[in-house]
Amino acid sequence: MERVVIVTGANSGIGLALCERLLSEDSQLRLCLACRNMQRAKAAHSALLTSHPDAHVDLLHLDVGSVRSVLDAAQEVKARYSRVDFLYLNAGIMPNPQVDLKAFFKGLFSRNIINMFATAEGLLTQQDRLNSDGLQEVFATNLFGHFLLIRELEPLLCQAAHTSRIVWTSSSNARRSAFSIEDIQHRQGTEPYSSSKYASDMLSLVLNRHKNNQGLFSSAICPGLVMTNLTYGILPSFFWTLIMPFMYLIRIFTNTFTLTPYNGAEALHWLFGQKPESLDPRAKYHSLTSGLGINYTQPQQMDIDDEMSDILYEKLLELEKEVRRKLREENADTHQLTE
Ligand SMILES: NC(=O)c1ccc[n+]([C@@H]2O[C@H](COP(=O)([O-])OP(=O)(O)OC[C@H]3O[C@@H](n4cnc5c(N)ncnc54)[C@H](OP(=O)(O)O)[C@@H]3O)[C@@H](O)[C@H]2O)c1
Repeated sequence: MERVVIVTGANSGIGLALCERLLSEDSQLRLCLACRNMQRAKAAHSALLTSHPDAHVDLLHLDVGSVRSVLDAAQEVKARYSRVDFLYLNAGIMPNPQVDLKAFFKGLFSRNIINMFATAEGLLTQQDRLNSDGLQEVFATNLFGHFLLIRELEPLLCQAAHTSRIVWTSSSNARRSAFSIEDIQHRQGTEPYSSSKYASDMLSLVLNRHKNNQGLFSSAICPGLVMTNLTYGILPSFFWTLIMPFMYLIRIFTNTFTLTPYNGAEALHWLFGQKPESLDPRAKYHSLTSGLGINYTQPQQMDIDDEMSDILYEKLLELEKEVRRKLREENADTHQLTE
């Protein structure tokens, strides 16, 4: 039977590279590119069909940072497919990143250089803002929109006779110290990206606790440091090009500089071939590339507290109720106005 795979943020970078790799692995897939920018999505669609002319590739409009768009897209998925085998939650943003240049140059000539590039710890802050749903944009995009999508697709993801998988593209920038359970949207801080990725790690773990018995399994990955639109937003592409020989050199000593989207998609692709029962729910699966350019996947334990992840889950369910109520009220107002 053909497997249905949905990839959010599939129109560029790691998401698009994953789609290429999945089609090379299984030409019988039904692959759904769930994208916000449909012009880029159409270009990605054409590129995939050029390399895989017989592939079944669908397009779906999904702005994961908009509640309405998520609900509409989920309706569309339910109309199109009777089940979902893999849901890759890959779309992500890091808006207005600010690099602490002093810390960067200090780190460049220190023993901490590898960790600095691998985790961006102490180096990166972002300016977040409220979106039209009144949610913090980074939280809404990287976490909550995906959470809502899972909730909406539960009938297709939680089927007793059948196993379904969720895979989160997390990051090694996900840090416990950047997350506060009192402020899950990270309204107060300056590291919304790190906070949202840490929250996605927790959510992955808690989903396993709640949903494994319903046939749904969740995993988190880190793609390593990859040159994509996201990294070109942190420092201009010419700068990355300038330091690239240096990066290849450092790769001899570390393995987290995957650098290309193809390499970065390694763990996402590897998980596609694994039995969910064989995976460790407390591990994050890292895409790694050796100095010789050989790709592999390695699990690393996540620093997660069970109690805190349960509270996060409850808070997300509460927020879901709230946004649904708000939407119903808005719909009722519009209905009254049109009468
Ligand atoms: N690059 C790295 O070094 C690195 C490291 C760790 C983790 N990651 C994670 O990897 C994932 C993929 O990022 P990337 O590096 O491949 O960067 P990218 O090329 O910028 O890809 C991000 C994708 O997410 C999509 N997206 C953003 N906001 C969206 C929204 N509201 N609704 C739907 N789609 C949306 C973008 O689509 P649009 O065309 O609509 O913008 C794009 O397709 C992200 O979750 C990122 O946090 C990347």
